[in-house]
Amino acid sequence: MTSPGTWGFDVTVPNVARIYDYLLGGKDNFEADRRAAERLLAAAPETIVTVRENREFLRRAVRELARAGVRQFVDVGAGLPTASNVHEVAREVVPDARVVYVDNDPVVVTHGRALLAGRPGVTVVEGDVRDPAALLADPGLRAVVDFAEPVAVLLLAVLHFVPDESDPEGVVAALRAPLCPGSALVLSHVTNEGSRPEAVSATNSVYDNASARITLRSRERVAGLFAGLTLEEPGLVYAPEWRPERRSPLDPASSFLLVGVGRC
Ligand SMILES: C[S@@+](CC[C@H](N)C(=O)[O-])C[C@H]1O[C@@H](n2cnc3c(N)ncnc32)[C@H](O)[C@@H]1O
Repeated sequence: MTSPGTWGFDVTVPNVARIYDYLLGGKDNFEADRRAAERLLAAAPETIVTVRENREFLRRAVRELARAGVRQFVDVGAGLPTASNVHEVAREVVPDARVVYVDNDPVVVTHGRALLAGRPGVTVVEGDVRDPAALLADPGLRAVVDFAEPVAVLLLAVLHFVPDESDPEGVVAALRAPLCPGSALVLSHVTNEGSRPEAVSATNSVYDNASARITLRSRERVAGLFAGLTLEEPGLVYAPEWRPERRSPLDPASSFLLVGVGRC
């Protein structure tokens, strides 16, 4: 991209959205992001599986919900635009599906507005998942989403950037509060279960020096985020196990990514 300072943000600090973009093979990243991602891959090569399986899960979950009649999607912690963005996947099934992308990173929001918004029923808003009340009250979101109809709230690979002191369970409960029956919560979260200690410590160390710290959680903690919802089959599983469309040669647990779809 360009030199530090030109864009009004510090490109020398590895950024969680841009590290992810690099891991997915994108071009919207800087030297510091690439170095952080390579450090991660050196200690935890399975990270590449995690990010790819996460996007595959997103595709399958959005498609299934659209087929089940959900026509509105709020993608929180949406990330930089990439292949198969939510509105593209949903609109293959429901051509007029409405989609709101939310992220707290101004660069993600700017890119999203340039590449994703500008079509009827698709918008990009700046919002922080740690402040769900403000997020839900955003006029841009309210202009697109009608909470009287089912809405799918997507929290993909974002809640592990919400530390315990920001109360991830409370965040999810607040985001669920306005949802009517038939709505859904789609969630993916990196787990520390079964991880090698050196992979966990390298992951923590990379994100300790990045724009947001990471909190890897146990299966029990991730399951607790679905409290009060009915988990769709096959329940809370590793990403490759959620309604796979092809047989993965990998051990699903090597994704270290727990996923699920809960219905209201
Ligand atoms: C790993 S990316 C995941 C992108 C996308 N959800 C996916 O799963 O492919 C995490 C995204 O969450 C965003 N994020 C991190 N903390 C956030 C917060 N507190 N509020 C909103 N977005 C946040 C980052 O800016 C980044 O774009």
